[in-house]
Amino acid sequence: MTYNLSGKTMIITGANSGIGKAAAARLASLGAQVVMACRSMERGQKALEDVRQTAGSETVSLMQLDLASQASIHRFASAFLEQYPRLDVLIHNAANFDLSLKKPILTEDGIETIFATNHVGVFLLTHLLLDRLKACAPSRIITVASKGLMLYPFLDIEFDNLNGERRFSPQHAYYHSKQAQVMYTYDLADRLKDSRVTVNCVRVTNVAIPDERLDHLPGWLRKIYAIKRSQAITPERQAETYVYLAADAAVEAVSGGYWDENNRQVRSNKASYNRETWKKLWNLTAEMAGIEA
Ligand SMILES: NC(=O)c1ccc[n+]([C@@H]2O[C@H](COP(=O)([O-])OP(=O)(O)OC[C@H]3O[C@@H](n4cnc5c(N)ncnc54)[C@H](OP(=O)(O)O)[C@@H]3O)[C@@H](O)[C@H]2O)c1
Repeated sequence: MTYNLSGKTMIITGANSGIGKAAAARLASLGAQVVMACRSMERGQKALEDVRQTAGSETVSLMQLDLASQASIHRFASAFLEQYPRLDVLIHNAANFDLSLKKPILTEDGIETIFATNHVGVFLLTHLLLDRLKACAPSRIITVASKGLMLYPFLDIEFDNLNGERRFSPQHAYYHSKQAQVMYTYDLADRLKDSRVTVNCVRVTNVAIPDERLDHLPGWLRKIYAIKRSQAITPERQAETYVYLAADAAVEAVSGGYWDENNRQVRSNKASYNRETWKKLWNLTAEMAGIEA
């Protein structure tokens, strides 16, 4: 599919690598003004040059954003709102899935790092940019979860374990944060139903991760990733779903969906549809993000 995205401004978090980088290049090649929101300016700068070259476009820029730091999220949002008059699409692609973590590491805000990055940071960033999205409606928010959640059919939000205080493994923290993202998507879509701001979640499948991203992992884990990679699709292929949800007219008014890599709506687990849990999660996340529910 091809689209004309000139005049549209889009933010992609974690755009220096993998799916985010592939999506940045594709959206810029279609004419969008793309802001790559990256934790490391050094990695971001290198990716910016690649993305501009791949896209054949100069409508790409780089801004610093560390989703594990609420101060950084506030700085990013203020700087963005000052520099860019529009925001048409916000893509929450970045995530921490550091499988080398052996125990919960708390951020400067006192939140377990994986949950802080993948869920609380997403919540805060959306909150700070929401008025601009509403002013530019129809506009779109895209969140990202994982097909791996299918291995956890009974996973629910563990309100007594948000910081990994009861039990912790990086896998568990990661899928827990993604379960929270699925519920947050449904809840936010519901809350925004009269605003012409849509919210949809991508169920990312097994996507190839380059070797250099895995250098810090022990050998046995790198071997598992190598086996996974033999079955994986490319970041460019998965990025097509981001592009579809960001650009296609067919989904302009569709909200609260969960989408596979073939741009089809899929179901998440039973617990994710519980509205009581949505509400409790919303209130607790708002508290963790230092904002009024
Ligand atoms: N690859 C898969 O098989 C797979 C499967 C299911 C779901 N997903 C999801 O797909 C999305 C993209 O993953 P990917 O495969 O493209 O992985 P990736 O290449 O490792 O990209 C992850 C991106 O997130 C960024 N990031 C991590 N922590 C951050 C923070 N605190 N602040 C800002 N940015 C941060 C990374 O930046 P740095 O360079 O600074 O680390 C990197 O740019 C993620 O949401 C992931 O959970 C991937």
